[in-house]
Amino acid sequence: MGRRSLAPQLWLTVLLGLAAGALQVCGQRAASTTGFITIDCGLPNEGGYIDPMTKIPSTSDTGFIDVGSNRNISAEYMKPESQLFRGYHNVRSFPDTARSCYTLPSLVPGSKYLVRAMFRYGNYDGLEKLPVFDLYLGVNLWQTVNISQAERTVLAEVISVIPDDSVQVCLVNTGSGTPFISTLALRPLENTLYPQANATQGLVLVDRRDMGGTGNYPIRYPYDPYDRAWLPWSDSKVWSNISTKEKIQGNVWNLRYHAPSTVLQTAITALTGSNTIEVSLATQLDNANPILGCIAILYIAELQILSGNLKRKFNVTVDGGHSKLQSKLEYLVPDVMYNTEPHECSSRYNITMKAAANSTLPPILNALEYFSVISTARVGTVIEDVSAINAIKAKYQLKKNWMGDPCSPKKFAWDGLTCSYAISERPRITSINMSSGGLSGSISTYFGDLKDIQYLDLSYNKLTGLIPNVLAQLPALVELDLTGNQLNGSIPSSLLKRSQDGSLTLRYGKNLNLCDNNSSCHPAGKKKKHMLAVYIVVPIAAVLIIGALIVLLIFRVRIKKGPTRGVHQQLENHRFTYKELEVITDNFKIVLGQGGFGPVYDGFLKNGTHVAVKLLSLSSNQGIREFLTEAQTLTKIHHKNLVSLVGYCKDGKYLALVYEHMSEGNLDDKLRGRGCNVVFLTWRQRLRIALESAQGLEYLHKACSPPFVHRDVKTSNILLNANLEGKVADFGLMKAFNHDDDTHVSTARMIGTPGYFAPEYAMTRQLTEKSDVYSFGIVLLEVITGHSAILQCTEPTHIVQWARQRLAGGDIKEVVDARMQSDYNINGLWKAVDVALKCTAQNPAERPTMTDVATQIQECLELESEGHTDRRCQ
Ligand SMILES: *[C@@H]1O[C@H](CO)[C@@H](O)[C@H](O)[C@H]1NC(C)=O
Ligand SMILES: *[C@@H]1O[C@H](CO)[C@@H](O)[C@H](O)[C@H]1NC(C)=O
Ligand SMILES: *[C@@H]1O[C@H](CO)[C@@H](O)[C@H](O)[C@H]1NC(C)=O
Ligand SMILES: *[C@@H]1O[C@H](CO)[C@@H](O)[C@H](O)[C@H]1NC(C)=O
Ligand SMILES: *[C@@H]1O[C@H](CO)[C@@H](O)[C@H](O)[C@H]1NC(C)=O
Ligand SMILES: *[C@@H]1O[C@H](CO)[C@@H](O)[C@H](O)[C@H]1NC(C)=O
Ligand SMILES: *[C@@H]1O[C@H](CO)[C@@H](O)[C@H](O)[C@H]1NC(C)=O
Ligand SMILES: *[C@@H]1O[C@H](CO)[C@@H](O)[C@H](O)[C@H]1NC(C)=O
Ligand SMILES: *[C@@H]1O[C@H](CO)[C@@H](O)[C@H](O)[C@H]1NC(C)=O
Ligand SMILES: *[C@@H]1O[C@H](CO)[C@@H](O)[C@H](O)[C@H]1NC(C)=O
Repeated sequence: MGRRSLAPQLWLTVLLGLAAGALQVCGQRAASTTGFITIDCGLPNEGGYIDPMTKIPSTSDTGFIDVGSNRNISAEYMKPESQLFRGYHNVRSFPDTARSCYTLPSLVPGSKYLVRAMFRYGNYDGLEKLPVFDLYLGVNLWQTVNISQAERTVLAEVISVIPDDSVQVCLVNTGSGTPFISTLALRPLENTLYPQANATQGLVLVDRRDMGGTGNYPIRYPYDPYDRAWLPWSDSKVWSNISTKEKIQGNVWNLRYHAPSTVLQTAITALTGSNTIEVSLATQLDNANPILGCIAILYIAELQILSGNLKRKFNVTVDGGHSKLQSKLEYLVPDVMYNTEPHECSSRYNITMKAAANSTLPPILNALEYFSVISTARVGTVIEDVSAINAIKAKYQLKKNWMGDPCSPKKFAWDGLTCSYAISERPRITSINMSSGGLSGSISTYFGDLKDIQYLDLSYNKLTGLIPNVLAQLPALVELDLTGNQLNGSIPSSLLKRSQDGSLTLRYGKNLNLCDNNSSCHPAGKKKKHMLAVYIVVPIAAVLIIGALIVLLIFRVRIKKGPTRGVHQQLENHRFTYKELEVITDNFKIVLGQGGFGPVYDGFLKNGTHVAVKLLSLSSNQGIREFLTEAQTLTKIHHKNLVSLVGYCKDGKYLALVYEHMSEGNLDDKLRGRGCNVVFLTWRQRLRIALESAQGLEYLHKACSPPFVHRDVKTSNILLNANLEGKVADFGLMKAFNHDDDTHVSTARMIGTPGYFAPEYAMTRQLTEKSDVYSFGIVLLEVITGHSAILQCTEPTHIVQWARQRLAGGDIKEVVDARMQSDYNINGLWKAVDVALKCTAQNPAERPTMTDVATQIQECLELESEGHTDRRCQ
């Protein structure tokens, strides 16, 4: 926390009355307990009662937590029982768990809530041992609870934006005694209230006072619709108190700051003969916790009719710092003074209010709130992972330390789990080791929801039944250990396949009834059960199989006949050996080019299909696994504007990718007039290639979920076939080779190609579809200008900068490729330039989607056809 002096602009003042008319409509909140959660922790199961004071129903904590035990406080602290707040009679204590969490459900994600916990020890364990422990809101430290007296209640209250549809409140044993809790409550707030509480910071209550209030109890619900507790504070020795029976201006619910009328109807003012009030609030902040500073809110409302020469003007000075003149009070209209940015906290918060020289009345203060500000920037694990692992936890009835968020904070990550922690991303579960964990029953299909999991070790348990198919669909899984269980049936063929192609290390020994060969398995029980089904299925299946065989036969004949059909239709997901590659490439005779990861060779498959073989050099084993996983994904992506991956090779140290051959090379060479077949591209051809590549990218972005980001869009990755049709190549390669080992984000080398990087990538290292759009904009500029992404002028100049400068004069001829000799429709050209510039907008949000881009280019092409007719007519 940096030391912050109280700059004048930090003290803003808002006259609540100003917007009263509007606020009555939009900010109104009738007193209702909808959305309230009120838990009396430690209350026996059937428990539940209505609080006599607020009439809010309280429930037991059944269903909110599954650890800890119910305890009654000692009889000596129960006196007088009739008057002791019911919530303090019992507690839930957590002697056996390091972290114990309540889950408060049914919230509106992204909304603001007040969460309040109360702790009264009352020697419930008879040990007279006052504990100190930590309290967390979700994955963020809320505060340390220091029980300093057995009979004293410690209050913890936080106002925070809750990101998800539930929030956990966790008590953490820090080695200074057993955590316990008396009550826990949650109240929804309007999102506009307390603007200082946002997604990254929360307000922890230090004090909330009803100045001049004289009752014995705090003002709460229903007077305060949010059930905040305003503690009365008056002291006739230092202040005098004034009050009114009039409501404070129509009970306005301010959009940002609101205090109930009842609270504002009383106030403190100076004693007779004095023109100053001083308030010194003990803040008792625990300096051990990292807080961002403090926020104060003062509520001031005129309670007297100021007739004649009566005037109330005063300076408000906080902590001896800057003063602020308060002179515009209106009768019964509340005003608020507050700081928007947290300021330095001190052990006492001093407010001095001094009447101005020509004021006839002393200062006045109706209410105040004081908060410390905590960071809530830490985010919990990806929701899908949390749900899955919680379902797994429930199925196997795991207790261990499996409580709270599975990955976060890192020091509380669940036993046996490993997570990835990327900057500004939610953690994900990457491995689970439940080896020798005493698990019984079947393998939970929820494992299949952990999409980032790489290692799954379920060895030496008592798992029974079949191995679920879903395990084979885990895209990142590289190791699966099922050794030493009682699994039966056959291993799913998809798993075996992954194991055989080397992308998965599969261990399944010591499972007596497990067979690794489909044909040798005839589960007896299953047969009987499905007898009826068999009668129906068999004939149909027979017909289908025969049909399939016939189709296959015809197909085979066709393959033999010639390579005229689409390559990917014949050879999907084929794995080659190195020997086969030698044959295909005729011992790597003809080098087609040098790719980013190694040389590319010309080759022919046995059936005559022309292919390009990319030989890859990789360093780490990890990279190889990722490569194989990725290669398998890539073989499944098919679109007429994407270069098809015919197959791949992983043979010993050799890695290769086999692509359909694109006889006309790449767009980069074509635009520069390089390569063997030097063909000059007309504007129409260029537009068509641009359109086709845009459609290829659009497919990558839209057909895959999550969107598949190419990561290296550039002219040399747009390949042309014999008909000069454009196809996008090398998608996914960048990802495969630079696996997102998120903990190393900062050291990972930049991927992609200079000149094509979207500006945000350099800063955040995050790639999205919009980064591809940016790179595509560069491609489009190259297509229009014939220049490369970085121009070698007197000094290297980026094409976007170059084009923008030249276009500033309004003459498109300044940028267009002169070789096109004005053979273009000027409107279509302008449109294309416009699209290119939009794609290269600095702000990703301003860039169009690839769908928009494709539509626009299509329109350019249409204009071009019209243009041609026009010219012919002339
Ligand atoms: C707590 O006190 C209640 C009566 O007030 C009693 O019914 C209950 O059994 C007690 N619970 C424990 C754990 O002692
Ligand atoms: C708890 O409070 C007591 C008394 O206020 C203080 O002496 C002690 O240092 C505090 N403990 C911690 C861990 O903050
Ligand atoms: C929350 O408020 C703080 C202080 O005004 C600000 O620095 C921070 O960026 C805000 N966070 C969000 C997510 O708006
Ligand atoms: C002021 O407070 C005292 C108690 O401190 C109370 O007796 C008195 O009634 C209050 N006066 C007004 C005007 O509220
Ligand atoms: C606040 O007032 C107390 C006495 O009332 C004084 O000891 C302390 O130094 C003051 N703090 C500041 C920051 O002015
Ligand atoms: C009130 O504050 C203003 C501005 O800081 C200052 O000029 C003025 O003298 C102060 N008045 C009193 C009565 O303290
Ligand atoms: C009161 O004094 C302030 C300066 O302290 C001045 O701006 C204001 O005009 C004065 N008001 C009256 C009614 O004299
Ligand atoms: C899982 O833990 C066991 C010991 O608890 C260890 O032998 C095994 O290697 C671990 N598995 C993995 C994949 O790390
Ligand atoms: C698996 O089945 C095939 C026939 O489907 C057979 O040739 C092979 O020997 C079997 N392997 C084992 C290990 O049983
Ligand atoms: C496999 O195990 C399950 C659960 O133990 C059992 O119900 C089923 O009959 C077994 N099937 C075979 C083929 O042994």
